Amino acid sequence: MGSFGKLARRAIETESPVMVQIQQLYRCTKDAVSLAQGVVYWQPPQQALDKVKDLVYDPVVSRYGGDEGIPQLQDALVQKLQRENKLYKSKVMVTAGANQAFVNLVLALCDAGDSVVMFAPYYFNAYMSFQMTGVKDILVGPGDPKTLYPDADWLEQTLKKTHPPPKVVTVVNPGNPSGTYIPEPLLKRISHLCRDAGSWLIVDNTYEYFMYDGRKHSCVEGDHIVNIFSFSKAYGMMGWRVGYIAYPSEVDGFLAQLLKVQDNIPICAPIISQYLALYSLEAGVDWVKNQVQDLVKNRELVREALSVLGEDNVKGGEGAIYLWARLPEKFHDDFAVIRWLARRHCVILIPGSACGCPGHLRVAFGGLPEDQTAVAAERLRKGLEELLRDGMVEE
Ligand SMILES: Cc1ncc(COP(=O)(O)O)c(C=O)c1O
Repeated sequence: MGSFGKLARRAIETESPVMVQIQQLYRCTKDAVSLAQGVVYWQPPQQALDKVKDLVYDPVVSRYGGDEGIPQLQDALVQKLQRENKLYKSKVMVTAGANQAFVNLVLALCDAGDSVVMFAPYYFNAYMSFQMTGVKDILVGPGDPKTLYPDADWLEQTLKKTHPPPKVVTVVNPGNPSGTYIPEPLLKRISHLCRDAGSWLIVDNTYEYFMYDGRKHSCVEGDHIVNIFSFSKAYGMMGWRVGYIAYPSEVDGFLAQLLKVQDNIPICAPIISQYLALYSLEAGVDWVKNQVQDLVKNRELVREALSVLGEDNVKGGEGAIYLWARLPEKFHDDFAVIRWLARRHCVILIPGSACGCPGHLRVAFGGLPEDQTAVAAERLRKGLEELLRDGMVEE
């Protein structure tokens, strides 16, 4: 007989996915607008969609493909990594999105009982991936209180005093949920600390093109570093599920372990999606940068709405599609605030507690075009004003 008690503790003891809870809240809220999900409002490049349309009847897209990805896409990505990311020794495995890339890596690099490091506020899915693997200690480091950059001094101390050293250190650059980027010198320092300690470093570059105000994204490479990328946001391809791992070619057996995981989960990323990714790359970086530039207006609308919390309490937005805000002390229960904002002001956000920081809000500004973002931001501003003035009043 099946029973709850017979379900895997590994799964039971993993957090529930916050996005599933928030999607439910969205569905139950009449006339809701969402600043919750980390998505973009645009579609993939028109010319890429047109080309893929012609492929639907080609038997090649209905068959399995090679586990590592279709060769044309792999080749194009290796060139892209060299040209844009200055990653010269990395090889590529195409995955069904960056989340699957992360799970592949955790399964290939971590054993049950290992310790790992991430920084608060953290990306909730990465946290869950560690939990599901049976990792014993998820050591969560602080971000700098002003900038939210990962605290490298804390990392140095932690790597020194943890025995055996943490198996993996992971950062997201630019960050989800913080929306801050990691300046190159800091990223290099983190990389050197990991190398010296014998820890892997996984850098999630899902938002590599989402950099504002002249900032530049950079990557680090080394035989202890793995980079993750995604087509989801840059090319508006969330539902097509394509991401990739750039892994160090010089590590013996790395690919062999990754293939074990890949072959047992997706086998390969959807073939038609890989072709769309290939054709989207032809549209090029300028196409993506054009889309991303328009988000600056959205960011300002949302930042303005959040400013009622006080400027020091609003951070991020240097990169990615997020602003990060601190609520006044008495609103430690941010999920209650999220539900109240949905109920009373019909605007949906993500609670900071899902990212290891209760009393905070993550606000996404990429999912709606400017006119709808303005509507959402206005509701948010009114909601926060009321919250500060009267508390979570109900009528
Ligand atoms: C930091 C980060 N990594 C990975 C993902 C998942 O991307 P994908 O759709 O490629 O799985 C997201 C999506 O929000 C993200 O923010």
